Amino acid sequence: MSFFRPNIDRLAGYTPGEQPQDTGWVKLNTNENPYPPSPHVVEAITQAAQGRLNLYPDPLGTAFRKAAAEVFQVEPDWILPGNGSDENLTILIRAFADTSDQVVYPYPSYILYETLADIQGAAHSRIPLNADWSWNFTAAAPLIDRAKLLLVPNPNSPSGNRWSDETILRAVPPRGILVLDEAYGDFADQPHRAQLLRSDKRHQIVITRTFSKSYSLAGIRFGFAIAHPDVIAGMRKVKDSYNCDSLSLAAATAAMKDQAWMQQNVERIRATRQRLADELAKLGFLVTPSQANFVWTTHRDRASRELYLSLKARKILVRFMVYHDVPWAANQTLEGLRITIGTDAEIDQLLATLREIL
Ligand SMILES: Cc1ncc(COP(=O)(O)O)c(C=O)c1O
Repeated sequence: MSFFRPNIDRLAGYTPGEQPQDTGWVKLNTNENPYPPSPHVVEAITQAAQGRLNLYPDPLGTAFRKAAAEVFQVEPDWILPGNGSDENLTILIRAFADTSDQVVYPYPSYILYETLADIQGAAHSRIPLNADWSWNFTAAAPLIDRAKLLLVPNPNSPSGNRWSDETILRAVPPRGILVLDEAYGDFADQPHRAQLLRSDKRHQIVITRTFSKSYSLAGIRFGFAIAHPDVIAGMRKVKDSYNCDSLSLAAATAAMKDQAWMQQNVERIRATRQRLADELAKLGFLVTPSQANFVWTTHRDRASRELYLSLKARKILVRFMVYHDVPWAANQTLEGLRITIGTDAEIDQLLATLREIL
């Protein structure tokens, strides 16, 4: 006999990417940054650790909000710090989606949205993307119309493509909230600086950002949301009082203030991304042009699963992804590899190993 809510019993649960705890891996599977964070981050964590760990952290993250507000050119009350973007996504679903409401997202995209909606007990629907990862607004329109919450990763995962502002603005639900999940926003050609929010007269757009990717801080768990202060105030009611600890607040504030460090790593990753895409194409891979710190690829002749396993046997970890019910895929099942952009040396090792395997 189970005492869980029925929707929890039915839930398979989200499976995060593999995080091997032994050494020697080339780890290209969960879109972490291969470069270290700003040296100011370690200084800030050390200082915070020597400080007031016996006291609760600032529940509002005041210093962080000030630093982020300056970068994004908004007031600090437009910013909500969170324990990773995933926490802000959880807060959004808890705050906006009743059991009678529809949570909607493009598909294939970030699978966690579905899990979070299931945990909440909210209804959810997928907006099927076209084979070139564009939106089919004829199919999407009725779903957008019904959506209370529309979650859109931009750039998208697993494809890495980025939709234009025009597409995004067409997707704002008439009776709901659009969440722009910009986990990979800094890797795009035109990184957003929250300009879409300025045209958002009805306060329907929330942007979420993470420190796990461009800021090289997946290990500390920190993200933030940007939205009109009325929306942020509502979200704040839902969060844990002390959702960000003193060390992560100190780290994120220092990282946010060192934009030059982050940008320099982003530039390196973008250059390696281009090189990887070109070399994969020469090996017979089809590569979706990426605006993120990973590429989505399939091979002309070889099954993705087989390549994933062959690489894994050689201690190179990439992400093998399977999406069911994709109308344009063979047997409606889309399989492919999502490969994180590592250092140049890691990518060279990957390419050499692929040449050997193929
Ligand atoms: C689209 C997308 N959103 C959010 C996240 C999670 O970010 P965080 O590490 O800040 O929870 C990820 C992580 O891979 C992601 O791919």
